[in-house]
Amino acid sequence: MKVKFSSPGKITLFGEHAIVYGRPAIVSAINKRVYVSMEKRDDDFIKIISDLSSDFISINEISNYKGSLIYIIKAIEILSKYTGRKKGVNIIINSEMPISAGLGTSAAVSIATIAAYSRIIDYNISISEIAKLGHKVELEVQGIASIMDTTISTFGGTMYIKPNVTIEKIKIDYEIPFILGYIKREYNTAYMVNKVKSLMNENKEIIEKIMETIGLIVEEGKKAILEKNIEKIGLLMNINHGLLDSLGVSNKELNDMVYLARKAGALGAKLTGAGGGGCIIALCPNNESIKNNICNAIESIGGKVIPILLSEEGLKEED
Ligand code: PMV
Repeated sequence: MKVKFSSPGKITLFGEHAIVYGRPAIVSAINKRVYVSMEKRDDDFIKIISDLSSDFISINEISNYKGSLIYIIKAIEILSKYTGRKKGVNIIINSEMPISAGLGTSAAVSIATIAAYSRIIDYNISISEIAKLGHKVELEVQGIASIMDTTISTFGGTMYIKPNVTIEKIKIDYEIPFILGYIKREYNTAYMVNKVKSLMNENKEIIEKIMETIGLIVEEGKKAILEKNIEKIGLLMNINHGLLDSLGVSNKELNDMVYLARKAGALGAKLTGAGGGGCIIALCPNNESIKNNICNAIESIGGKVIPILLSEEGLKEED
C-alpha cells in the first residue's frame, strides 16, 4: 500500500517571533509544497530518502534519533506513542522549496508525515489532531514553537492566529503581489527562537514592548488587508521589519535585500520566518518593470528569486 500527502510552505505577513510570546500573527500558505510518500515495509525499519539526505533506522530506536531528518522521525515517534501502533515504512520526501529557509518546511513535512503515517498504521485521524500533533513535533524538536506554521500547513489560506485565543481565516479575494527573495540561512529556527528568548530574559521590559508593538502592527495589518489598502500593508511590513531587526533576527544579507527591494520600488519589504538569513518578502505594485527591478535588486546581491502565489490549499492527499 502506497500513500502520498503534501502540505504547503508559508510566508509570515506580520508577527513572527512575537507570536511565540502570545501576540497574534498573520500567515499565508504558498503554492510551494512538501510531498511525503510512504509504503509499508515487512520489517521494523524506517527508510527515508529525501532531497537533502537519507537514513535507515529501526523503529525501536527512533527515540534516540538526532539526525537531519528529525522532524519526520519525531512525527512518527509521536504518532506511534499517541496511537499505540507502529509499522516499518519506506518514505520519500520532496520539497518544492529550499529547506530551512524560513518557509515552514519543517511544519509542512511534519504535517504531511503525520497524515501519511496514520494511514499506514490504519488510524483514522482528524484534521485537528494532525495540527495538534504537528505542533507537538515542532515543540519537541525545537524546544519552543508557536502553532503558526503547523496550523497554516494543515489548513492553508491566510490566517490571523492568536495563540490560545483565536484562529481566524482571512478571506483575500484580490491579488497581493509578493516577491520572495532567498539567501542561504546561517542559523536554524531553533537557534533564532532561543536567541530571542535570551534577549527577552535579559531585557524583559524593552523586548515585551517590542512584542506588543508587533502585535499592534498585526491588528493594523489585518484591517489593511480587509480594506485592500496595499500601501498600508507595505508600510506596516517595513515597520515590522525594523522591529525584527531590533530583536537581532535580521542580518546584513536580509537587510540588503529588503533595502534594495524598497529602492527598486517595493511598497514594503520585510524578512519572513525566523531570520538569521533565509527569506524576505517584497510587496510589489502592479507594474512589470518595477517587478523586474525588484527581482534584479535581489539577485544583485546573490539572492534567489522564488516565484510564489498565496494559496488556499492546506494538507492534501495526492494521487
Ligand atoms: O523560520 P520558520 O519558517 O521556521 O518560522 C518560524 C516562525 C517563528 O515565529 C520565529 C517561530 C514560531 O514557532 O512561530
